[in-house]
Amino acid sequence: MTSEIAGKANFDHIRYAQLWEDADVLCAALPQEAGKTLVSICSAGDNALAMLTLDPARVVVVDLSPAQIACLHLRIGAMKALNHAEFLILMGARSGARGPLLDRALAEVDTETAAFWRDLRPLVEAHGAGGAGKFERYFRIFRTRLLPLAHSRKTIDDIFVSRPPEERADFLHDRFETWRWKLLLNVFFSRFMMGRMGRDKAFFDHVEGSVADHVTRRIRHAAITLDPAENPYLHWIMKGTHGDALPMTWREEHYDVIRSRLDRLDIRLGSLEAFIGAGEKADGFNLSDIFEYMSPDVFAQVYGSILSAANPQARLVYWNMMAPRRVPDACAGKVKTLTAKENDLKGQDKAFFYSDFVIEEVQ
Ligand SMILES: C[S@@+](CC[C@H](N)C(=O)[O-])C[C@H]1O[C@@H](n2cnc3c(N)ncnc32)[C@H](O)[C@@H]1O
Repeated sequence: MTSEIAGKANFDHIRYAQLWEDADVLCAALPQEAGKTLVSICSAGDNALAMLTLDPARVVVVDLSPAQIACLHLRIGAMKALNHAEFLILMGARSGARGPLLDRALAEVDTETAAFWRDLRPLVEAHGAGGAGKFERYFRIFRTRLLPLAHSRKTIDDIFVSRPPEERADFLHDRFETWRWKLLLNVFFSRFMMGRMGRDKAFFDHVEGSVADHVTRRIRHAAITLDPAENPYLHWIMKGTHGDALPMTWREEHYDVIRSRLDRLDIRLGSLEAFIGAGEKADGFNLSDIFEYMSPDVFAQVYGSILSAANPQARLVYWNMMAPRRVPDACAGKVKTLTAKENDLKGQDKAFFYSDFVIEEVQ
């Protein structure tokens, strides 16, 4: 089986230089017992690394894109060469001199990965390795050129002051959702602009509704239901670095555990479909939001074949951004939806842009 999206989108460059999916909710959704075989879409690699905290026998990491696999290899090199504080500087969560840290990380990786990242040195020095993707560039243009048209620096800083939920609603209504802000969202999140600057237009083939409306709803969730002061994703989008809050993989409490288990990663350039076709079995799948990029028919076909590569009680964990995807009818009797867990974790998901988070367990 070939991958439908592979023929459409251009994978030459880094699309996501950091993971915009919350590993805290991912890891809580996957099987918790040690010794399991887990499979993860690579993307920028952060969530595959976070899955090492579950003490698995191995994590098979797949991605169609060599550039995305290179993001994971860089992190592995960085974790071998750098202490935690240096890692945060190299990634862009904190500011500091990144050139020498990049050199030390690249001394630990293969020559192809090193050459790939050396070409990106100016970008890494300016924005961190986690800021070197097309998606992060899109956020950067938003933050530096458009956001100042709607909001002052003081208003942006005030978003991250911790306050009770009622006051958060007032802040959003009185200070943030101004007419300028609404206009900005509609222009910036038009499909034309998103296609040009952030995402391949092919990725919108299956998306329903207006992107700006979706973003408005999700920002309300992030600004009122969740505490912005604890949200690393919102902080990066609005300020270009992380604040005190960090994504799970980048937090100090996990650094040494992840570092000590790097040899359990089994990294494979290629499609998830290739893993499934190889006859191996797994107990947990981090499927990112890849189903959204497939037509409903292809989704149903791929979903069925994932089940044939899943051990009993295996969990399929995935997000939907805008297009709804849940177990297809043909497979409905073979999995159980863990609704209570989904609802609990959806309420905590700090990567606020997704409309749905799905946990399905194989019967
Ligand atoms: C699906 S994208 C989404 C990332 C993130 N949710 C976002 O919106 O920022 C994550 C990664 O999946 C990879 N990918 C998509 N379809 C795939 C497939 N069928 N097999 C392996 N990797 C795939 C892409 O190359 C990309 O690096």
